[in-house]
Amino acid sequence: MSGVESQVKAMKSVRLNNGVEMPLVGLGTFKLRGYEAVYQALDAALAHGYRSFDTASVYQNEADIGKALRDLLPRHGLSRRDLFITSKLSPRDHGREAEAGCLRSLEALDCGYLDLYLIHWPGKQGHKSEDARHPAWRQESWQALERLYGSGAFRAIGVSNYTVGHLQELLASCQVRPAVLQVEYHPRLVQEELLAFCTANGIHLQAYSSLGTGCLLTEPTVQALAASYGRTPAQVLLRWALQQEIGVIPKSSHPERIAQNIQLFDFVLSEEDMGVLKRMHTDTWYCWDPRLVV
Ligand SMILES: NC(=O)c1ccc[n+]([C@@H]2O[C@H](COP(=O)([O-])OP(=O)(O)OC[C@H]3O[C@@H](n4cnc5c(N)ncnc54)[C@H](OP(=O)(O)O)[C@@H]3O)[C@@H](O)[C@H]2O)c1
Repeated sequence: MSGVESQVKAMKSVRLNNGVEMPLVGLGTFKLRGYEAVYQALDAALAHGYRSFDTASVYQNEADIGKALRDLLPRHGLSRRDLFITSKLSPRDHGREAEAGCLRSLEALDCGYLDLYLIHWPGKQGHKSEDARHPAWRQESWQALERLYGSGAFRAIGVSNYTVGHLQELLASCQVRPAVLQVEYHPRLVQEELLAFCTANGIHLQAYSSLGTGCLLTEPTVQALAASYGRTPAQVLLRWALQQEIGVIPKSSHPERIAQNIQLFDFVLSEEDMGVLKRMHTDTWYCWDPRLVV
């Protein structure tokens, strides 16, 4: 068995609440722009065993990702069904525009169906967080995702940046329960209540910005742990999430970093060191804080 084959085999996946299998590690693509850059990153990712890719309408790279994957699959001896492709509804398209927004993602990626489609943000773009219409827009958007799920265009649907309150509202009215919640989660932002709520309700929590958008890589605590395990700071941060059954989608445009960010299944952090990282929590948000969106 080749190195990549054993890497793919070793990589764990999670069974979502509708039975669909999702790899626990995927490649994030925020700020990865332009066909050449996308092609190079995806080429390296596929070579090192990544099968899952996370994009979004607002990243403006869906078309380049779709084309790069179509170009790369034969070169890597893979087919569409070997991949897990996630995209997200633009916050601009919440409400009446939601179905058209979903269809635009499907058309841009041009890969037949999407494995997972998420509502990117609980509020509609261009409206204040306290706007009382957000709940109705969210509900209308979710119904659009449900229709596309029902038609087979999406294999699973979920949400991103939702709080416990937003999730409770959704669970009270949905026909299809969300399979995934994608949120910011790392040692400086340990969202324990949210994780417990997701676990209790069969929703898989997937972390974004696991490296603190890069800021956590130079934290002395993380660096000291990395040295003690003979690993890199990025690997320690990603492994910390995986050991909580949390999926990760680190982003890099550098092939050597892409390679190291998936080599996570041949070491284990001790319970004590898991706790050391957890105690770094300072409620620090490197991206955006959705708690004010009504
Ligand atoms: N749902 C949402 O609202 C939301 C929000 C944010 C992000 N996301 C998703 O989550 C993905 C990951 O989050 P993120 O991009 O914010 O941040 P991240 O993955 O925490 O960090 C990415 C940064 O770390 C650097 N990096 C990556 N691996 C490294 C390594 N091994 N050593 C040193 N530096 C490394 C990258 O630089 P280089 O590229 O130069 O290597 C990049 O600057 C995004 O790409 C996106 O797909 C979703």
